[in-house]
Amino acid sequence: MHKWLKAVVLLGVLTGLQLPAQAGPAEDLRAFQDYFRKKFPDIPFDEFSNGVYALPQAKDAREQWQQVMRMPPYEIALEKGKEFWDQNSLGSCFKNGGRNIAQHYPYWDKRTHMVRTIELDINECLRRKGKDPIEDLKQGTMAQVAAYMKSLSRGQRIKIDISDPDALEAYDEGRRFYWAKRGQLNFSCADCHVTYVGKQLGGDILGPGLGHTVGFPVYRAEWGGLGTLHRRYATCNLQVRAAPFVPQSRQYRNLEFYETYLQQGLPLAAPSQRR
Ligand code: HEC
Repeated sequence: MHKWLKAVVLLGVLTGLQLPAQAGPAEDLRAFQDYFRKKFPDIPFDEFSNGVYALPQAKDAREQWQQVMRMPPYEIALEKGKEFWDQNSLGSCFKNGGRNIAQHYPYWDKRTHMVRTIELDINECLRRKGKDPIEDLKQGTMAQVAAYMKSLSRGQRIKIDISDPDALEAYDEGRRFYWAKRGQLNFSCADCHVTYVGKQLGGDILGPGLGHTVGFPVYRAEWGGLGTLHRRYATCNLQVRAAPFVPQSRQYRNLEFYETYLQQGLPLAAPSQRR
């Protein structure tokens, strides 16, 4: 375990930010983005879409990443996603044939009374066509198709509508999840991605919470392919030795809703590559 982390765990004290008093999503958004703007005044806003590689601490890693991105390792997977999309005419289920809509995902759906993600809507579309839904929701075909659909909206700026009072409940659950301490290490998402952003953890640098979700699905060599956002959530839960939730569980969908709302204005950059 890394020295600073060990110290934090042993002392059992975290001096960082606590769950801010509830003042509403607009206030959350301003406070969250201001925090990163102030902490990293030299990083242009749109750069945060590049995840950890936006940070000055990750300068060397960024150079490697830029090299890799010249011939992205996910090209074949993306091509497979497109084939599946075309074969099953998935475009017919979505507005604009699926173009330039991913920036509004996830969204609160009044009818099904839940937060809906791209993955859920892809499976819903297959069901409507009388086909089998994709079972594995964290990798393989689902990650490929979701990556393709998101690529159709690359560069579009995140805009999440949270005006429905019931949507606010889902948002609040996600927000509590983000700030709750969990696992044997007793760490919240915010501890690593807000308070300790930029610090080293093993071989990793802790990336900023600003930028989360917009590059997903991402390709990781460790995964040997593309993985969905909820696969990453599970990895992060396991890192603090907390039990992960199932991909597309209510908990993870609401967490995605909260996290994505905080990215308002950032351009979509999916798929991407990460270490
Ligand atoms: C003990 C520290 C730690 C905790 C706690 C943690 N993460 Fe992470 N997380 C990491 C590390 C390390 C990475 C890989 C480097 C990076 O991108 O930050 C990562 C990456 C991510 C990424 C990928 C970002 C990208 O663009 O590739 C997301 C999204 C994420 N974490 C969300 C969460 C959420 C949500 C929680 C709470 C459930 C959480 N993390 C808790 C350490 C942590």
